[in-house]
Amino acid sequence: MSGNILVKNMTFKYPSMISPLFNNVSVNIHEDWKLGLIGRNGRGKTTLLKILLDQLEYEGTVISSLEFKYFPRYPDLDDCLTAEEVLLKESPMTERWEMELELSYMDLSPEILDRSFHVLSGGEQTKILLIGLFLNDDSFPLIDEPTNNLDVHGRKVVGEFLNRKKGFIVISHDQHFLNHFVDHVLAINKESVDVLKGNIETWQFEKKNAENLAEETNQKLFNEINRLETVSKRVGTWGQKRENSTKDAAGRRLAAKQMKRSKAIKKRTEEKIRDKQNLIHNVEEVADLAMQVEQPHKQILLLRNFSILQVGKPLFEPINVDVYPGDRFFITGKNGVGKSTLLNFIIGNGKFEITGDYHIRLPDKLSVLHQKNQLDEDYATILDDLTAKEKESYLHLLRQLGFQRSSFADRSSKNWSAGEQKKVFLAHALLGNHSLFIWDEVTNYLDMLIIEQLIDAIERHEPTMVGVDHNEHFVESIATKKVELRREV
Ligand SMILES: Nc1ncnc2c1ncn2[C@@H]1O[C@H](COP(=O)(O)OP(=O)(O)OP(=O)(O)O)[C@@H](O)[C@H]1O
Ligand SMILES: [Mg+2]
Repeated sequence: MSGNILVKNMTFKYPSMISPLFNNVSVNIHEDWKLGLIGRNGRGKTTLLKILLDQLEYEGTVISSLEFKYFPRYPDLDDCLTAEEVLLKESPMTERWEMELELSYMDLSPEILDRSFHVLSGGEQTKILLIGLFLNDDSFPLIDEPTNNLDVHGRKVVGEFLNRKKGFIVISHDQHFLNHFVDHVLAINKESVDVLKGNIETWQFEKKNAENLAEETNQKLFNEINRLETVSKRVGTWGQKRENSTKDAAGRRLAAKQMKRSKAIKKRTEEKIRDKQNLIHNVEEVADLAMQVEQPHKQILLLRNFSILQVGKPLFEPINVDVYPGDRFFITGKNGVGKSTLLNFIIGNGKFEITGDYHIRLPDKLSVLHQKNQLDEDYATILDDLTAKEKESYLHLLRQLGFQRSSFADRSSKNWSAGEQKKVFLAHALLGNHSLFIWDEVTNYLDMLIIEQLIDAIERHEPTMVGVDHNEHFVESIATKKVELRREV
């Protein structure tokens, strides 16, 4: 059928890999689906989109007559295009009123069209690029992690925008966001690639059931194996004794028969184990994440009628905040309202003009995680700065975060997946003993299970935190205090 994406017996591996990323994968995707593509960091989601875009060589077949468009693809900075010109490049026949209509769905004002694209905020750029993908009816958008520059409100707006459209694939680790629109889910699991009709909740439900069933079956099977093995052992020893002690031929024959039977039982059991091995493998395992936490002794932060001034004007409406030991304080608010600026002020990063009163007392052992990975740092430079003992703990943390040793032995980190690169910095922020964690958007690029693993570690170790995060599920699970920054009008 034309209009569909047919993947048949597709096998793929990057040259540096030992075993294939995809092994004999077959899926059939309908052109009308709103498909959520999910899977753990490094499982190959981005790679699958590149395969559809025909950018990689694979074995097997991928058939489709659709015109694929990829997000994110940013226009050249040198071209100095306005937002309108960026949209016209995607679809030259589009009229201004059509663009304005789409902008209204995205909660953007029409005058943005006349602004230069590269002065727009990260969230605004994302929205413009997404509008561009859908202007042309013939194209089928492949959207790779659109939420990273979007605040909670932005995620809702984009979620609803996507719900008006059909025929696209979105990769995201934000289940709340995906549930706004997906009607099908493509999950890249540990040992299989599955397609399911429904949303993330349906998928989670089915997955849990399959895992419970697998675990239950495995448990039953293990019990049965133990029992059979004891029996076969007993029968075997008995047969052996009998064989040695008895002189008459009939007795020996019986003993030999029993030996044979016990061997057959053993063989059958072993076959059963092998049959079930697949199910056992498909259960995702997550290690407990180690976090070394000390509590600070005194109040950390006091803000009274406080705001940060930009060209003499307050960035946000004045706030009042107290952060005590054991608090997990989250700063919320729309894109561009000054959340990261406030975090920078708190950690003393830069010079600021302010209004109101404040008192900041930071403990010595700080864990700071910036929103953007530091450009001059990567896996290799971090490793170089560590002592042998720290190195060992660092690699241990990476393994707890789901890295295989082989995946960081001999590959340059520039090829690592988005989540793998993020984990390089997260493991560094977790290394050692800390009494305050200042984390700016830690959940960006991390997969759902890692986010759950972090929530679990934070619930167990109860660190004191000051953070910003746009993943609603994460903030709702761990925050003990929140303040919303509102633009001063
Ligand atoms: N050019 C490359 N050469 C070698 N290995 C690569 C290359 N590109 C990606 N990989 C590896 O292939 C695996 C899949 O990468 P991919 O980027 O498709 O993952 P992903 O599912 O999109 O992950 P994430 O959720 O972190 O974005 C990862 O282990 C990654 O490090
Ligand atoms: Mg990716």
